[in-house]
Amino acid sequence: MNVIIIAIPVLVVLAAILLLGNARRRDTGEAVGALSRETVERDRSARAGRADAAVEAPSGRAVEQSVAVERRAASTAVVTRPDTNPVAWVPPDPEIIGVNRRQFLNRSMVGVSSFSLATLGVAMVGFLWPSSSGGFGSKLRVGSFDEINQKISDGGGFAYYPEGRMWVTAYPQAALDKARNTYSAPELAGMEAGFVALYQKCVHLGCRVPQCLTSQWFECPCHGSKYNQVGEKKAGPAPRGLDRFVTEVDGNVLLVNTGVIIQGPPIGVNTTGQEAEGPACITGGGNH
Ligand code: FES
Repeated sequence: MNVIIIAIPVLVVLAAILLLGNARRRDTGEAVGALSRETVERDRSARAGRADAAVEAPSGRAVEQSVAVERRAASTAVVTRPDTNPVAWVPPDPEIIGVNRRQFLNRSMVGVSSFSLATLGVAMVGFLWPSSSGGFGSKLRVGSFDEINQKISDGGGFAYYPEGRMWVTAYPQAALDKARNTYSAPELAGMEAGFVALYQKCVHLGCRVPQCLTSQWFECPCHGSKYNQVGEKKAGPAPRGLDRFVTEVDGNVLLVNTGVIIQGPPIGVNTTGQEAEGPACITGGGNH
């Protein structure tokens, strides 16, 4: 039993050595073999009728050895490189190369994209930039106090300025004390001069709010919200008083910045105490 255990590994090792030796000889071209007897007899009978029959044919071993020698000589032959001096690299001239199609397409796409973005940017800046032409969004020179008072009088208590989308009405000087406790400085600047500048847009859902000459209030035709003459909420679904603009006084001239909107006063603010002075123009819109 012990002999078998020892013999098997020895046989495996010997077989491996034999296989490796054969492979090595094939690789180095040293492998030779012998022609079988039938092959030799066939070659001899085929050569018998030819003129070189008298010449002894080389054996198979001799042929294989000569081939192996030729192969070895070819593999060890040294190939000499032609004796040429290296040439210094010269970068190609871009003018000569020109622009290939891929470069042309890439540059075209970048150019078109850049142009589109630039156009969009200019349009957005132009849209957002405060207008300097005197329209809505800019600081308006409304007029002198006399001119404004005249316009208010001509309008039955209300002066409308379409370029500012605003109403200008008189603020009673007797109510200034209350106003100073309620409104901010930018609003008070106009009030001290006797005016309020109100945004025409209803704070409920945005309808344009017209004046009502009979009640001397503003009354929204959409859902019946009502505001007194200085834009304080009196009735309807509006969540606060009318929004208004920043005002400035320059000498006896009123300036209104329609680019800055100030939220209207909260529900309950009633600095002037003005009640409806006549029939309402819009029915409904009871207190909410
Ligand atoms: S939009 Fe004016 S009350 Fe609704």
